[in-house]
Amino acid sequence: MKTDTWKNRDWITTFDYTKEELETILHLAFELKERFNLNEPHDILARKTLFMIFYNGSLRTRNSFEAGMTQLGGHAHFLDTGKIYAPTFGSETKDRHSEDIADTARTLSRMGHGISIRCFGDAVGWRWGMGNQVIREFAKWSDIPVINMEDDWYHPCQAMADIMTIKEKLGELAGKKLVMSWAYAPDTKKPLSVAHSMLPVASKFDMEIVLAHPKGYDLNSEVISKVKNNVTQFGGSFTTMDDMDAACEGADVIYAKSWTATQFWLPIQEKLMEAELKSLAEKNKDWICDSRRMALAKKGAIYLHCLPCNRDFEVTADVIDGPQSAVFDEAENRLHAQKAIMALLMK
Ligand code: CP
Repeated sequence: MKTDTWKNRDWITTFDYTKEELETILHLAFELKERFNLNEPHDILARKTLFMIFYNGSLRTRNSFEAGMTQLGGHAHFLDTGKIYAPTFGSETKDRHSEDIADTARTLSRMGHGISIRCFGDAVGWRWGMGNQVIREFAKWSDIPVINMEDDWYHPCQAMADIMTIKEKLGELAGKKLVMSWAYAPDTKKPLSVAHSMLPVASKFDMEIVLAHPKGYDLNSEVISKVKNNVTQFGGSFTTMDDMDAACEGADVIYAKSWTATQFWLPIQEKLMEAELKSLAEKNKDWICDSRRMALAKKGAIYLHCLPCNRDFEVTADVIDGPQSAVFDEAENRLHAQKAIMALLMK
């Protein structure tokens, strides 16, 4: 008997998926993109429902999931946390108007085919890792797949769109130099989710990976260990440096964006050390992706950013609006990659 290894699985991080499974998602994403472009019907999820719970704002994620479900023949419900009894976090006392995750997850499981959740930041009192715990708690109680639409640690849907975009623009992934670089932004409260998801995926595809950031912006050590293990298993390389110019030399892909310095936050500190966080960021204002740095990369190199971006801080307008920018292809690929994930898990 052939076992369906996809049905009803959760999508919380890409760590739980093999390289072959990630390749299957990519393959299907490209096929669904082609069918979308040809306006061919592909109602793989006809009459199925996705419940989307957003504790945070979104442009790309909400619209790509919602449009994606429509194109697959189903429907996505947008659940405004202010309009349901959404579980609350970040204070010691439970809000009496909220409902336990266990009850919310089991109720939605009886009515639809998938629950997707975005949760980080204010929703969990900016306690690092707690957004991820919330999503895992939903998954514990849900009988239908739970899909991570971004938490404080991970954004696995973004990573699949990112790797799809690199493949689409540059072809073979093996041997390509990917620079994941921190960049300055005046808003210092940004999750580490994009870097934490992109590097573990890229390191399964034999890429030459460079992580660049100023001192104090380290990624989680467990994520780095997974990246190093992947490089040992699948080939390629992984280097870290604190010099953005040196990192950009000979790059095929420059992915420059901001993330926060977690050592100034709970649970490491008793309360947010806002002044220290700002001061460290402002010492590194020169970490910007501009045309000089793009010129250090290979001819034909691309610039990526998950968006939304802080223009003129993380990246200059001539780069993000220029011929090397692939950011809108990347945004579009959210649609195709997520349709592939939903089709496989919710069919
Ligand atoms: N990249 C991304 O997740 O965008 P949104 O915050 O607009 O969903």
